Amino acid sequence: MTQKLFEKYNLSGLELKNRMAMAPLTRCRAINGNIPNEIMAKYYEQRAGAGLIIAEGTSPSPNGLGYTNIPGIFNKQQAEKWKLTTNAVHKKGGKIFLQMMHTGRVGHNDNLPEGGKVIGASAIAQNGEIKTYSGERKAYPIPYVLSTEEVKDCINEYIESAKLCVEAGFDGVEIHSAHGYLPNQFINATSNQRTDEYGGNIENRCKFVLEIAQKMCKAIGNEKVSIRISPFSYADGGIEEQEIIDTYLYLVKELDKLDLAYLHLSHMGEPQEVKFQLWKKIRTIYKGTLMLCGDFNKETAEKALQENQCDLVAFGRDFIANPDLVERFKNNWQLAERNRTEWYGNGASGYTDYPFYKTK
Ligand SMILES: Cc1cc2nc3c(=O)[nH]c(=O)nc-3n(C[C@H](O)[C@H](O)[C@H](O)COP(=O)(O)O)c2cc1C
Repeated sequence: MTQKLFEKYNLSGLELKNRMAMAPLTRCRAINGNIPNEIMAKYYEQRAGAGLIIAEGTSPSPNGLGYTNIPGIFNKQQAEKWKLTTNAVHKKGGKIFLQMMHTGRVGHNDNLPEGGKVIGASAIAQNGEIKTYSGERKAYPIPYVLSTEEVKDCINEYIESAKLCVEAGFDGVEIHSAHGYLPNQFINATSNQRTDEYGGNIENRCKFVLEIAQKMCKAIGNEKVSIRISPFSYADGGIEEQEIIDTYLYLVKELDKLDLAYLHLSHMGEPQEVKFQLWKKIRTIYKGTLMLCGDFNKETAEKALQENQCDLVAFGRDFIANPDLVERFKNNWQLAERNRTEWYGNGASGYTDYPFYKTK
């Protein structure tokens, strides 16, 4: 049986050398003013064997830099420095999208640049605490509530940022609408209790992300726009099962009309049957390229492709520890151990120093 995982794939005209994507992974190495740098370029270059790299969550706005040392893409300087990465990956024959991630209420004012604000759909704080630059963990703040006009301004920030992504040489953009980030905060009634056109029923709560996707398609081309969602993730705690299903079936039907590069479904945490049933349903209604991610290994990914559950599979933690993951899978070489202690910061250590597999 031929291995589908290593087959080429035509992603809306972009030729991928295999069906393995590197999942977006926040690594907090943009240590100088949220500007991408050489070490980040090296890290992605090492992983250019992936059919598609989805570079880490990157903010389209000063307000979205709520975590320490995450990169931005809202000014020319950042775009210029991202070219180090896109050039390095392209030289190795790789393809690279950038994930656009706005932290919204899952950030802290202490982490934002001057003038930045922790914003949200409604004045409801995320539960829990977040690491700040001082090293101290602090409670998530109550976000500043955007007015209707400010919501539209925020959508425009995504669009301006997408144009900068193209300028920086990215092959496309992935809108992060998963895991409780800003678009997900608009989707969920637990964080969105607005009474304007961006709140209330499912259609209104999905409007924020759908407008971003629609406008981005117009601005940079639909073949360069993709989106990540995570129905039944930890962000959906406290929401009725049927509500989650209805919301995502509506959203996916609307996204299907946009002919995007791909739709990315993310699973993290507890495997729940209801989630995977929804994935199957989504596969039947979404006609474009579907990518799955979460706890896959070589065998389960191959099985998912053979069973036509998806077109592409993304791998996260294994790409951190194995820059040559594709070669290791192809040759059945052992995988390196995942070491989570340096996931979020510490320069080259635990970042660019994972070795390539050595053959005797
Ligand atoms: C260190 C780390 C950082 C992550 N950062 C992001 C991110 O920036 N954006 C995102 O959508 N998911 C992020 N994720 C989730 C991964 O993209 C992926 O969904 C998750 O690791 C599950 O895939 P895996 O089982 O192959 O590791 C992160 C995960 C890890 C471990």
